[in-house]
Amino acid sequence: MTHATNTTYRIGGDLEVNRLGFGGMRLTGQPGNFGPFEDWQGGLELLRAAADSGVTFFDSARSYGPLTADQIIGEALEGREVTIATKGGVDKPAPGKITVDGSRDTLLREIDEALVNLRRDRIDLFQLHRIDPDTPIEVSVAALAEAQADGRIGHIGLSNVSREDLDRALTVAPIASVQNRFNMSETNDADLVDYTAEKDIAFIPYGPLGANPMQQGAKLAPREALAWLLRRSPNIIVIPGTTSKAHMLENLTAWDLV
Ligand SMILES: NC(=O)c1ccc[n+]([C@@H]2O[C@H](COP(=O)([O-])OP(=O)(O)OC[C@H]3O[C@@H](n4cnc5c(N)ncnc54)[C@H](OP(=O)(O)O)[C@@H]3O)[C@@H](O)[C@H]2O)c1
Repeated sequence: MTHATNTTYRIGGDLEVNRLGFGGMRLTGQPGNFGPFEDWQGGLELLRAAADSGVTFFDSARSYGPLTADQIIGEALEGREVTIATKGGVDKPAPGKITVDGSRDTLLREIDEALVNLRRDRIDLFQLHRIDPDTPIEVSVAALAEAQADGRIGHIGLSNVSREDLDRALTVAPIASVQNRFNMSETNDADLVDYTAEKDIAFIPYGPLGANPMQQGAKLAPREALAWLLRRSPNIIVIPGTTSKAHMLENLTAWDLV
């Protein structure tokens, strides 16, 4: 097995996860990923089936729902030894509308709420969902470092950032992951994938199947698209989003093509 086809990756050097993970954004009300997922029981069963099938990395965010993706993931996976990543700094007051606030007090309050919703003592990976134009990234990352120092979060991640943003954040605290849009047909961040690999930072591509965030349906052939990402770089952890157990199981077979 070559390095690029390792099936696991250690986030922040210590959180070992299966590189085929699960994206939680679609377990929300539709349209617009707003409100609770309609089939709550079915969502719980899907998440538990994913964990039973070997998925050990689940991605969520405060703004999915808002709060309801964290809640369904927390309820489904309570007591299980899996890694859960969520995000803060972005909220969703209405379908298709977001607000951004990366100030210290907001981020620390959101971390406390996520701990309750995820039913955990510590958030394994907390990602700044996007940079607040009114708050320097150094200030947002310093707030996350404060929560890391007191044990409320394990690792700090970033989302929707450039290499320059990452370099600025790294002057404040260790960064364990970057989550940006990247897939077979959207490769603008190719250099950033390589840069994070050099620095041993996880790269978590969103929209791995090319889906529009506000619409249902994969745009790329799912297994091929996932296999391409898993081959692309050993630090990539994929998080296909699905509401279907059959699709979740199909996505896990992407390894057969790698
Ligand atoms: N950081 C950010 O700003 C950001 C933004 C967007 C998303 N994300 C994260 O990235 C994750 C993935 O992104 P995404 O959900 O937007 O897009 P995606 O994973 O590229 O595609 C999801 C879509 O593909 C469908 N699908 C999944 N597996 C399939 C299969 N095997 N066959 C056919 N269709 C399949 C799903 O529909 P079904 O439900 O019918 O399977 C869903 O509509 C999200 O869940 C979220 O955790 C992060």
